[in-house]
Amino acid sequence: MQSPAAYWEPLWSSGRRYLGLSEAETGLLSEQLGAGRGRAALDIGCGDGALARHLHHQLGYRTTGIDCAPSAVDLATEHDIEDGPSGPVWRLMDFTTDDLSELPAPAYAAVTCRLVYRWVNDKHGFLDRVRRVLAPGGVFWVVTELADRRERTDPLQRLGITARDVELLTAGWSVAREADLGHLRCYALRP
Ligand SMILES: C[S@@+](CC[C@H](N)C(=O)[O-])C[C@H]1O[C@@H](n2cnc3c(N)ncnc32)[C@H](O)[C@@H]1O
Repeated sequence: MQSPAAYWEPLWSSGRRYLGLSEAETGLLSEQLGAGRGRAALDIGCGDGALARHLHHQLGYRTTGIDCAPSAVDLATEHDIEDGPSGPVWRLMDFTTDDLSELPAPAYAAVTCRLVYRWVNDKHGFLDRVRRVLAPGGVFWVVTELADRRERTDPLQRLGITARDVELLTAGWSVAREADLGHLRCYALRP
């Protein structure tokens, strides 16, 4: 099976870009995560780093953005030079296979994952790893498309997760909140 980096790197390096953050989405994010006050946040699959920068500069989390595609990490780093020297930390890392002890912090008050979960092959394994890096009382924020929001004939239906994926994602948390934004669903999950 193709590694995540082998899949994503050619897309980033050939100029593919993804849906930007809307005000409605950042509003929900802030409502569910609250102010960072210097606590640690981890954005998994950070892409060009927009969400990680928002967590860091607007919400006040000490943020690390990781991505398995070198071109995405390069883009995130370049943007940050424009923002000044005190931005998020960026790491080239495959969250599904790399050693989690290489992350800058042992535990994170917020772990975010935007438009990534759909593409994870071993979702059980992924969720286990998320639980390992979440601090007690932390929150796991997931933004994803839902397959059943689109007609079967719509080629974009493949961007969404299935009802079974949703069941797996939301099982076993003490609090599982959800909110809809058009084709997107946002989840705030707490251990
Ligand atoms: C659709 S893009 C979304 C990027 C960004 N989160 C956003 O909202 O714009 C999915 C990203 O997840 C990254 N990714 C996928 N699987 C990954 C993994 N196992 N570890 C780290 N990053 C991963 C890809 O390289 C890609 O940058």
